[in-house]
This record gives sequence, C-alpha cells and structure tokens, in this order.
Amino acid sequence: MGLTVAVTGPTGEIGISAVTALEADPGVDRVLGMARREFDPAAHGWTKTEYRQGDILDTDAVQALVSEADVVVHLAFLVLGSRKEGQRVNLQGTRNVFEATVAAQRPTRIVYTSSVAAYGYYADNPVPLTEDTPVRGSSEHYYSEQKAEVEAAVADIVDGTDLAVYILRPCIVAGPKATALADVMPWNWFPGVVRKAAGAVPGLKMPIPDPGTPVQLVHHDDVAAAIALCATTDAPPGAYNIAGTGTVSISDVASALGGRPVKVPSATVTVAAEVIKRLPRVPSDAEWIHIGKTSVVMDISKATDQLGWTPKYSSTETLEALAAGVGK
Ligand SMILES: NC(=O)c1ccc[n+]([C@@H]2O[C@H](COP(=O)([O-])OP(=O)(O)OC[C@H]3O[C@@H](n4cnc5c(N)ncnc54)[C@H](OP(=O)(O)O)[C@@H]3O)[C@@H](O)[C@H]2O)c1
Repeated sequence: MGLTVAVTGPTGEIGISAVTALEADPGVDRVLGMARREFDPAAHGWTKTEYRQGDILDTDAVQALVSEADVVVHLAFLVLGSRKEGQRVNLQGTRNVFEATVAAQRPTRIVYTSSVAAYGYYADNPVPLTEDTPVRGSSEHYYSEQKAEVEAAVADIVDGTDLAVYILRPCIVAGPKATALADVMPWNWFPGVVRKAAGAVPGLKMPIPDPGTPVQLVHHDDVAAAIALCATTDAPPGAYNIAGTGTVSISDVASALGGRPVKVPSATVTVAAEVIKRLPRVPSDAEWIHIGKTSVVMDISKATDQLGWTPKYSSTETLEALAAGVGK
C-alpha cells in the first residue's frame, strides 16, 4: 500500500508543482489537499488528489485533514502579506498543523518549507550559509522573523515525539509557474493603463538598483522534487538548504524581467534599510528591502549528499525560465 500525503497550500506557487511531483511518485497512492479557495484538481490532470476547502486556522479542519495521512506536507503560509495577518496565519496556523499532526498519531513524518529568510540578514553569518547556522531571523522583516519563530515553535511541538520532521529552506523560488519575483517588480505597482502607456515609449525601462548582493534562485520543479523526496526518503530528517546552482546578480534579474539595472554602492541599501527600520509605520512590503542588505547564499551540499537531491536548473536557468514564462 502506498502513502497518503496531506498537503496544506496545494494551490500556491510551490503547491501546484509539489502535488504534481507527488502524483508522479509511485510510492504515493493518495494526496489530500487543503486551502481556502475553490480549486479543481482534475483541471491539473491530477488523478490521486482530492481537494477540500479549509483554513489552517480552523483546528477541526486541520485535524480532519492530517488524521487521514501518513505524511503531512505543510506549505500554507502568507508570504506577501502584513506582519499582523502573517502572525495569525503563519504562527498560529503552523502551530495548528504541527500540533494536530502530533496528536493524530497516524502521520509518521511532516515536511515543512521554511526559507533562507529564517537565517536572518546578518553581516556575521557565514557565506555560504550551512544548516548549522543559527536560525535567528531578522526582526525588521516580518517574514524572516516569522520563519525563525515558526522553526522554534515547531521544534518545541515535536520535542519528545517520534515524528520525523524535514525542514526545507529554499531560496527565492521562480519559474513559469512561480512568478512572484516578476510580479513584485516595481513597474507592476502601477495600474495597467500606466504600464501600457510606459511600454509604448521605446527604451523606457525603470531603474533597478543593484548593490552587488548575489542572488540564488531555485526552480519550482526542483523544490517540488525535494518535497516529494522528503515524503518518501530514508535520508535523515532535519533541515536542508535548497537552491539552484550558481548565483545571478540583481542586474541579471532586472535585465531579464524588463528593468534597467543601475549599480549602486552596497551602503545605499544598508542606509535605506536602516531608515525603513526606524520609521514608525512602514508598509510590510517595504520590509523586503532587507533581503538586499547582505549575502544569503546557501551551501546546498547537505541536500545533495544526504537527501540525494540535485537541482536540474541553475539560478541562471531558473531566471531564464521565469522570464520566458512571463513573456520577457
Ligand atoms: N515562493 C518562494 O519564493 C518561497 C521561498 C522559500 C520558501 N517558501 C515557502 O514555501 C511555502 C509555500 O510558498 P508559495 O510560494 O507556494 O506561497 P503562495 O504561492 O503564496 O501559496 C500559499 C498557499 O497557502 C495557502 N494558504 C494561505 N493561507 C492559508 C490559510 N489560512 N489556510 C489554508 N491555506 C492557506 C494558499 O491557498 P489559499 O489562498 O487558497 O488559501 C496557497 O495555497 C511557504 O511556507 C513559503 O514561505 C516560498
């Protein structure tokens, strides 16, 4: 008998690819997906997957989901959202999923996608980051802070239980089916009519500052492969860094997605980030500036050596796939 895998957040950028990978895995018989929107698994050609609408803040819905599963994959999260809303969904929601999984007894393992952001943006972090680097988060960026808090909470919840916990820490995920990096480019902040008018002016491209910080990207299919691997592998549980090989520059990202790269001293971003940190009321989106402050390049040798995962796409190939996917 194959496994039943419960997936929270199967409708998201990573979720679609992760369920596709689980569908293709002969060790998986059944996938149970849960998220809030209406969604039809058959529209993706999935045959093993059943979908139910539910919120991870609803403990009954979470219990019902995980109690039928051998493996739980927890992807539901608010990535781009407010600090306050993130606190509810990301902290309480993840607690609900882990507590229900421990209580349900049937699941023997859980796979959770944390993030490189859990390490925080510290000048004294090693380059590249290994999984031994303390997960400190950075309080000035809600997402980084919450990713670190969630990892600490999860460690407390599973302490003393037999549940095997696989924590993946991906860098920025991109590709034709994961377009968030392209979607957050500044020209997309303007209404469509303004964008269309600007697009009609030959050579007009919005400047994107590049302070020289290297960027890792990973393709959604490679993250999906890592998730499916964690659902079935004999490799030891624990944390694994997940990134495509090599790096790209912010200039590469800007050029590929239709902007005009402008080299700036790294101090510019540090100063801007410090100003934003000190402002009394900052929109949560502005806090993403902190990711450009310092290198968060990760070492992926633990994932390749112990998990047996190899990315098919380099960071450059992932960027090319993203650009092609969004028509650039
Ligand atoms: N994308 C990246 O670059 C990246 C990098 C590193 C780590 N990660 C992590 O990978 C995970 C998945 O990310 P993603 O990129 O796939 O995010 P996403 O595209 O924003 O998808 C989030 C998923 O969570 C679901 N969700 C949100 N709130 C929910 C709630 N209250 N109850 C139930 N489901 C809820 C959403 O579905 P509904 O809206 O239908 O509820 C959706 O399926 C997250 O933990 C993220 O932090 C992402």
